[in-house]
Amino acid sequence: MLFDFLVPQRIIFGPGCAGRLGAEARVFGKKLLLCMGKGSLQASGMIERVIGPLEAAGLEIVYCGGIPPEPTLESVEESLKIAHEYEVDLVIGVGGGSVLDVAKATAGLYYGDGSVKEYFEGKELKQPGLPWLAVPTTAGSGAEVTKNAVLSDPVSGKKQSIRWDSWLARVAVVDPVLTMTMPRHVTAHSGMDALTHALEAYTSRWAHPMTDGIAFEAVVLICRNLYSAYSKGSEKEARQQVSLGSLMAGIALNNARVGAVHALAHPVGIRYNLSHGLVCAVLLPHIMEFNLTAVAEKYARVAKELHLAEQDTCSADAAERLVHFVRMLQKRLQIPAKLGEVGLQEEDIPGLAEAALPSGSLAANPRKAVYTDLVKILETNL
Ligand SMILES: [Fe+2]
Repeated sequence: MLFDFLVPQRIIFGPGCAGRLGAEARVFGKKLLLCMGKGSLQASGMIERVIGPLEAAGLEIVYCGGIPPEPTLESVEESLKIAHEYEVDLVIGVGGGSVLDVAKATAGLYYGDGSVKEYFEGKELKQPGLPWLAVPTTAGSGAEVTKNAVLSDPVSGKKQSIRWDSWLARVAVVDPVLTMTMPRHVTAHSGMDALTHALEAYTSRWAHPMTDGIAFEAVVLICRNLYSAYSKGSEKEARQQVSLGSLMAGIALNNARVGAVHALAHPVGIRYNLSHGLVCAVLLPHIMEFNLTAVAEKYARVAKELHLAEQDTCSADAAERLVHFVRMLQKRLQIPAKLGEVGLQEEDIPGLAEAALPSGSLAANPRKAVYTDLVKILETNL
């Protein structure tokens, strides 16, 4: 066994912990770039829980708002321009995975001497960037604890990550209260993305006992609490447990990678302009079905922990109960059962399968998936 294990320097978790943001940020300088999304945080008033402590600590805030979902290379170019213009000392990302990824890439590329596109295409990064702090407001992406930023290039049609070990947040401040005003569909899609991270990391070819422990607990937390967080959004306990599950799933994926769901999610998402969480949410049970024989023991262990199967049930049967549970969860969260319901076209299938083949996530999938397997999986989605 050989592994290295990466986590942010500090993770702060718990209701109200955003109040510590000022003291945490002040350590890294006086002037910060605050990356935010398109305004839901402002509309709900939640942003005050972030800005208040920063202002109280005497920090100067430079705003970079309006970061779109599924960000492009241009999104990072724009925020880098603001960061350079104001010569900020640090970056804080407050939002969902897209915002956190832009904040991460902006901090990471601050001292870079090439364009974002050059780094996207593999240019080597010579030095670390600015420190950055992550404040997630959704429970799903795990971006607060990962070293990669997922970006899209509309010109080439590619969606992929730039990743560097030095890109981990200095501090991840995970306050479940910030997730309380998430719209229901975002709770559902981001929660299923987190469940996908946990299950794919748990069954990854690169999994090891440290990631297994974290991923297993994450799967259980999310399975037990996601529907309550969705159906009763103000249910604090459920929100807290899903936030914790998402955080743990992020740590697991950062150290064990993800699998075939994520390999397919990128080309499908970019082709039909669908959110990453939605595509993962639809695909998850299809890929679990495909992987069933390779990971029956691990699925069975989860099923037994969730009391979906008796302790003496054989692994194959117990594993199938977990797949059934995920299908039912998908239905209760009002997520389509097939990609055909959100735009998948038969004539696109060969190209989408082809585009997924080089993915590192596919290499981590526990059952080897070749071109014809991916085509078959997509055909069952029509
Ligand atoms: Fe994901």
